[in-house]
Amino acid sequence: MNAEIDVSQVVLKTERLTLRPWKESDLEDFYEYARVDGVGQMAGWLPHKDREESRKILRMFIDEKKTFAIEYEGKVIGSVGIERYDEEKLPEFQEKAGRELGFVLSKDYWGRGIMPEAVRRIIRYLFDEIGLDFLACGHYVENERSKRVQEKCGFRHYRLVKTETSYGEERDCWLSVLDRASGN
Ligand SMILES: CC(C)(COP(=O)(O)OP(=O)(O)OC[C@H]1O[C@@H](n2cnc3c(N)ncnc32)[C@H](O)[C@@H]1OP(=O)(O)O)[C@@H](O)C(=O)NCCC(=O)NCCS
Repeated sequence: MNAEIDVSQVVLKTERLTLRPWKESDLEDFYEYARVDGVGQMAGWLPHKDREESRKILRMFIDEKKTFAIEYEGKVIGSVGIERYDEEKLPEFQEKAGRELGFVLSKDYWGRGIMPEAVRRIIRYLFDEIGLDFLACGHYVENERSKRVQEKCGFRHYRLVKTETSYGEERDCWLSVLDRASGN
């Protein structure tokens, strides 16, 4: 089952990063990476067309209290969402408390191990402090970069599923699972 989550007061630190709630003043940083072609598409959404679109999503991040901003050298360069997983796709997890991670990083910062660093810290927070039993994480079958991030963080492929993008396209997606008991 999906656990209740509220990260609106939570700040986590890693060697290079601060993971913290989103603020309205993050709009320029957000729009700067969300408008770039080839970023959002890999996570199921299209590049933002204008600042207004980014402003609406940013407002949603703040209201829904489940998404961390990734701050690096004073700038927001990505996000990690503690999303609700699809309970119909993982019915055997009904007795366990879990969520699904979703993440995006500004293209300018790819390939430096930043997302694995952020995701590892958030996994530790969700297992050790919140007490979740498991985490799910998905990637489109062709998304090798996300697959590598997930592998490096301990996730293993669990089930091939169909998902729908925010713009109504059906895609094949590998759903991976990380169990707290696996020691990660
Ligand atoms: C997936 C994503 C978060 C990876 O973050 P990251 O911090 O770059 O992750 P890493 O640095 O660990 O790199 C992951 C893999 O990308 C590849 N990579 C390395 N350098 C790269 C570069 N400069 N450009 C592109 N890809 C690169 C490598 O295969 C690397 O795996 P490796 O460690 O086995 O070499 C980022 O590419 C992204 O935001 N992509 C678009 C959105 C997305 O796919 N989100 C996930 C949805 S499921």
